[in-house]
Amino acid sequence: MPKLLVANWKMHGDTAFALSFAEGLLRFLGGRNAFRSTLVVCPPAVLLAPLAAALRGSGVYLGAQDVSAQPSGPFTGDVSVPLVKDAGAAYVIVGHSERRTHHGETDAHVAGKCTAIEAAGLVPLVCVGESAHVRESGGAAGYVAGQLAASVPASARQAVVAYEPVWAIGSGVVPAAQDIAAMHATLKVVRPAANVLYGGSVNPENISDILGISGVDGVLIGGASLKLDAFCSIVAAAEAF
Ligand code: PGA
Repeated sequence: MPKLLVANWKMHGDTAFALSFAEGLLRFLGGRNAFRSTLVVCPPAVLLAPLAAALRGSGVYLGAQDVSAQPSGPFTGDVSVPLVKDAGAAYVIVGHSERRTHHGETDAHVAGKCTAIEAAGLVPLVCVGESAHVRESGGAAGYVAGQLAASVPASARQAVVAYEPVWAIGSGVVPAAQDIAAMHATLKVVRPAANVLYGGSVNPENISDILGISGVDGVLIGGASLKLDAFCSIVAAAEAF
């Protein structure tokens, strides 16, 4: 099955970086007849428009990293779904653990954003995942299933879910394959229509093993997505699936 590969640049890069990344990615993709995977690059919001212009016609999608649930209004500093759509985004990441931790976002906030994103015809990419403490206590499956049920409205038609254990993000540590498979199976019971990605320390060395795990429909890539060579290696490896 073709995979969904999502690059999360977080708060990294600038216009020069984005344009040079796009040029390198286009060169890599142009050297192949076609690519089966769906590619989504999520830069900081202010880089969406220049990156969209640079990637126009390539088949590579753009995504935002967060959004307001409100369409417009007196919300200084926020960015709406219509704005990111206008800048070229087709996907929006919501509920990343960094937003939940640093900005106090709750499942209810995430569900509101999810509804606004779907209503505008974009695809919400909703992150869930347990802390090390929850994992050690043995309650990870119930915790993450509850997060998903409360973060993605049952009416959502095409939400993508990313299972990102908080302790695996940026740590170089990846859960055992059977733990990823078990969690993905649990999440697919909660939201049967959702594609479920894995995220947390994905890199060119572990991508083939991760994509080979039952129930893994793709990956959300942080650090490795900022290195063009590493990202292209991940895209190349995903072509085997
Ligand atoms: P990482 O980040 O690949 O650097 O671990 C993943 C994420 O936070 O989405």
